[in-house]
Amino acid sequence: MEKHPVLIVGGSGMAGGELLRILAGHPSFTLAGVVSRGRAGHPVAAVHPHLRPDFPDTAFISPAEAEEMEPDLVFLALPHGSSAPVIRGWLDRGARVVDLAADVRLRSIERYERWYGAPHPDPALLDEAVYGLPELHRDEIRGARLVSGVGCNATAAILALAPLARAGVVTEARIEARVGSSEGGSRPSEGSHHPFRSRSLRMFEPFAHRHLAEVSQETGLPENSLTLGVTAVENVRGVQAVATITLAEPLREADLWKLYRGAYGHEPFVFVCPARPAHLRLPDPRLVMGSNRALVGFALHPDGRRLTAVCAIDNLLKGASGTAVQAANLLLGCPETAGLEMRPVYPA
Ligand SMILES: NC(=O)c1ccc[n+]([C@@H]2O[C@H](COP(=O)([O-])OP(=O)(O)OC[C@H]3O[C@@H](n4cnc5c(N)ncnc54)[C@H](OP(=O)(O)O)[C@@H]3O)[C@@H](O)[C@H]2O)c1
Repeated sequence: MEKHPVLIVGGSGMAGGELLRILAGHPSFTLAGVVSRGRAGHPVAAVHPHLRPDFPDTAFISPAEAEEMEPDLVFLALPHGSSAPVIRGWLDRGARVVDLAADVRLRSIERYERWYGAPHPDPALLDEAVYGLPELHRDEIRGARLVSGVGCNATAAILALAPLARAGVVTEARIEARVGSSEGGSRPSEGSHHPFRSRSLRMFEPFAHRHLAEVSQETGLPENSLTLGVTAVENVRGVQAVATITLAEPLREADLWKLYRGAYGHEPFVFVCPARPAHLRLPDPRLVMGSNRALVGFALHPDGRRLTAVCAIDNLLKGASGTAVQAANLLLGCPETAGLEMRPVYPA
């Protein structure tokens, strides 16, 4: 079977490395090139040593060399603001594009400018792009040229809330995301330097992390009914989004099982936690590490009005590169799960 050539731009980063790891085992994609601005000509294995046996002779290429290529699909794993200026060029050359940054996640230009504090360099892209979460937009992704990536905190929050929001039962949701250090990318900063970050419980955003805009857009819940706080915890990978929800009317547990099982019963990567044992009812990111899985669980207060809904993912997989490949599979007509069937590593 002929394989689809795919290009990774930003391949020296965290998400780029995870794309490479998935591509190493993908049955229908082949690596056309992996781009780095500063490391062209250097071995990929120098940056991603765990992948040396998979890519023993592969070197990074420069952005200029990449322009000579004709990939079927381009993954852009660049910092926010760096991908929008290059997307149109790739679309014009006939490639499909999956942009892992936040550049085309939002549909409204007003919302984009308000949350990202700058004009969008190519607003028409927002009209064309599809939000790249297959659990919500599977059919639209299949027919698209341009798909956004997903915010990792947003993905966890959306998967916890979507079945309830769709049923119109949410009055308010206060979301707290506990996140590992790889969420911040591979460039060290004052906030991510190990001696200071390790063993901390640092609350770096109490109410309105930028991913709140995506959560509102994708759940349809108004921004003023949501908060999204983020706390850095002692993990390298993983997001646990804990949503404390006020329901519009009292519900029974049976209603909630029906909503969640109805939403995720046939999903290949989203699983609803069992009611028992109690310590597995609300998901721990450790149970999805290294996989493209999401676990969703809930607990209802006896008053029937207060609900805790939790989703756990690996931020670099379901929260970034795994979902990006899931979307790429749909864009290129491959089985949705291709290359993504790895089981979680546990304990790790
Ligand atoms: N980390 C996560 O958990 C996660 C989750 C969801 C989404 N994302 C998104 O995925 C994207 C990549 O994240 P990451 O964590 O992989 O970041 P990263 O580790 O910092 O990697 C980004 C890569 O982009 C290249 N780059 C940096 N600045 C650039 C610029 N100004 N112009 C062009 N290229 C530049 C760099 O490669 P060279 O210098 O070698 O060119 C760098 O290795 C971000 O937009 C992020 O928001 C990340």
